[in-house]
Parts: sequence; structure tokens; C-alpha cells
Amino acid sequence: MNTPTSTFWSRRALLKRGLGLVGLTVGGLLTSRSMADVLTQPTPRQGLGPFFPDDGDEIDAIREDLDSTLPISQANDQDLTFVKGRKGKAQGQVIILSGHVLDAQTSQPIPHTTLIMWSASASGRYNHTGDEGTHSFPHPKTGEIIHRTHDEHFQYWGKAVTNRQGEYWFKTIVPGFYPIDLRAGLYRPSHLHVKILPPQSPTLVTQLYFRGDQIPNNALNQELLPKDVVILDAGLTPEEQERVIVDYAPDPSGKITDGLIGHYDFVIPS
Ligand SMILES: [Fe+2]
Repeated sequence: MNTPTSTFWSRRALLKRGLGLVGLTVGGLLTSRSMADVLTQPTPRQGLGPFFPDDGDEIDAIREDLDSTLPISQANDQDLTFVKGRKGKAQGQVIILSGHVLDAQTSQPIPHTTLIMWSASASGRYNHTGDEGTHSFPHPKTGEIIHRTHDEHFQYWGKAVTNRQGEYWFKTIVPGFYPIDLRAGLYRPSHLHVKILPPQSPTLVTQLYFRGDQIPNNALNQELLPKDVVILDAGLTPEEQERVIVDYAPDPSGKITDGLIGHYDFVIPS
């Protein structure tokens, strides 16, 4: 029979479990990032941005769940690398992000939490009528002209729901960095937007950034991070900034070969 202590993970148990994260469920995708680092501090909040997929805003609805009572942001699944019913795959470096949603106060996993992820395509263009800015620009390092274009095979947004262990996963691509103000030399580094809706806690909106040898424009992305307008607007300290960067690398076990893997635990403030 379950007692309260066996039903819920104590902090100690969770930390212990964290030591054995390699090969844990979610298809064995979790990496060995120290749980101790992430359990103590809530995930920093960052702005929603102008391209959240609201009903009526989209250029291409790509509604995979035809239940029209569902908001458009929740109408797609957690694999953004293709669109159901279309032959073809999204352009860009594939990544698989997985982890938990945890309560900051109790360190317990939060099951049945909806996560909505959205991002630009590999060339840095959103599927949103509001993304009408500069569609072509020179790469700030190489001068190569980048055309921010729509990718009909990229799902652009998706939804995952945590299981009983508070685990989630998404498969997607590395979005392109994009200009905010070319004259001022301002660009947004590659990032994923995430909205987390725990059943009984306030919604958390944040953005995750990329690091890794195989991440496109990795060096440039690291350069752009400390100057990023969203990070500065949110007032993130260097330590908080570090906590929203995810390291991606090939699966060390060699089992997952269709993308780089990264781990992130969202810690929800009470
Ligand atoms: Fe964005």
C-alpha cells in the first residue's frame, strides 16, 4: 500500500534518482544533467513574444487534431519534424528535448501538465502573419544571404502532456537565429518558446536556448545570448541565463541516431 512518502518523491529520492537518469523512461532519452542544479531554482520566466500560435493568427493552420474546440496552439503533437499527411521532413538539425516538469517547492513531478512549444523554422521564419520583418539578411559573420522562408514540412508548434512521472519530450529542429534590428546589429539567438500549463499552478512562459558543437551557428548563438533583448528584458542574471541554455549532443549510447539529444527540467514556481 502506498504511503504519502512512497507515493511522492522526496527531494532526496529525486536527487538519488537523478544520479541514474541515463536510460530512464521517455524512450531512454534523458541525459545525466545534475538534478541538484535544477531543483533548487524555478525556471526563469521570459516573454511570450508576438508569435504565439493563437487562433486566427496563423498563415498555415497545420491543425493535426481536428477538434475545433481545441485552441490552435494545442492542435498538434510533440513531433514537429514533419506534418501529418504531407510527404517530406522539416529542414534543419533535428533535436530531441526531454525532461520533467517539477514543482519548485516540493520537488515533485507534475503529471498531466500541458506544454506548448513553438519556434521559427530552420531559416528563422515564424508561421505567423505578424512575422513580416526582414525576410532576407546577410549572415553577420559570413555575409551569406539568409532567406527566412516558410517550411511546409515544419510543424511550427506542438503540444506534449507530462506522464505520471512528470516526463515530457519534443522532437523538433534547431530554429534559425533572426534579425531584430539590422542597423543596430541586434539578432535573436536560436530559441524555443515554451508555455507550461500545470493543472494547479500558474502558467509559466519561457524560452530555451542552444549550445553544442553540432548546433548550427553555435559560436554565433553564444555571442548573441548576453546581448539578447528577451534575456535583457526579463532581467535574467548570468546564472539565470545559464539555466535556460540546453546542451545538445549525440546520444552517448548510440541508440538515438535521428537527432541530437538535450535534457531540460522545467521547475514551476509555486
Ligand atoms: Fe521568438
